[in-house]
Amino acid sequence: MLLSIESSCDDSSLALTDIASAKLVFHHKISQDSAHSVYGGVVPEIASRLHTKGLPEILAILKGELGDFTRLKAVAITTEPGLSVSLIEGLMMAKLLALSLRIPLIAINHLIGHFYSLFINQCEAIFPMSVLLVSGGHTQIMQARSEEEFLIIAQSLDDSFGESFDKVAKMLSLGYPGGPIIESYASKLSPTTRIHSLPLPLKDKHGFSFSGLKNATRLLIESLSSHDPSKVDSRLKVDSSLNESDKALVCASFQKAAIAHISNQVEKYLKHKNNDGIRDFAIVGGASSNASLRAEIERLCTRFGLRLHLAPLEFCADNAAMIGRAAIPEWQKGIFADSIAQEVSPRSTTNYLHTL
Ligand code: KG4
Ligand code: ZN
Repeated sequence: MLLSIESSCDDSSLALTDIASAKLVFHHKISQDSAHSVYGGVVPEIASRLHTKGLPEILAILKGELGDFTRLKAVAITTEPGLSVSLIEGLMMAKLLALSLRIPLIAINHLIGHFYSLFINQCEAIFPMSVLLVSGGHTQIMQARSEEEFLIIAQSLDDSFGESFDKVAKMLSLGYPGGPIIESYASKLSPTTRIHSLPLPLKDKHGFSFSGLKNATRLLIESLSSHDPSKVDSRLKVDSSLNESDKALVCASFQKAAIAHISNQVEKYLKHKNNDGIRDFAIVGGASSNASLRAEIERLCTRFGLRLHLAPLEFCADNAAMIGRAAIPEWQKGIFADSIAQEVSPRSTTNYLHTL
């Protein structure tokens, strides 16, 4: 069995995967959402401190279930990209386990890990596949061409899709993570209410951008606000005291524009060179749980005759199960990291941004 550890941001997670069958045997995750919620985003120092508590707690639960660690054949760890103060906590634990148990260390790229969230409990992964990765740190179109080749075809020039949801939620003082909260507020909007149409970025270009949309949303909040200075949050410089129906209006208007932007850019990619002939398409990452985004991409896939693949909802956000699944091909090929080296690098994605 293979032990995997994920601590790249604000989730402490450990998983155990049976190498031969790819079956997930154990998975446990401690989310730090409530600790970061008051700040409207992840505070790296708090995340790091909570990993030092959370990771050993989960290891103790695992030890209670296994009795001892003699059945472990390798330890897989997310080494990049992510918050360095968070990554280091998981890496320390992984190195110590690998060294003390005398088993190999496998370094995993977090973005490739998200791709493998599609194949947890499955022996065979599908290649080639076009992948829309939407998370708090990234918004990318990637081509998973083989186990060895992951090409990044388009990416965000500024904020990511998930991050823009987090920031809009922060402007409205709705808490963190913003994605599910904004989605839920948007769904409360009465169907008869006309939503505001916000300007869509990069109309004639490829890639993604969310900073302009974020600003347009800020202006919309201001236009709906009471202009009572006592209600303006001095830190955020916005009036976060909108009534519930105006909050729903802002959330629905923002979400519609953010998804329309993703949809326009994915459509351009699919039209370009006929998607390089790839017939399979997936959405992965924390924000891939958004039902309206799923529906929009499903519509595009039907139009272009593509098969759509989605990860189970429980594995969309960061988790160690996807890291364990991503480590199986590395184990099979004997691609191991040096447990005593200071820098540990995983198989990387390749930038292919010039192809669009
Ligand atoms: O993949 P993930 O767990 O962490 C990173 O690798 O960044 O993604 C977390 C991000 C957060 O920004 C969160 O607000 C966003 O995913 N998210 C959503 C939804 N659920 C989570 N964004 C939009 N709609 C959602 N339903
Ligand atoms: Zn992630």
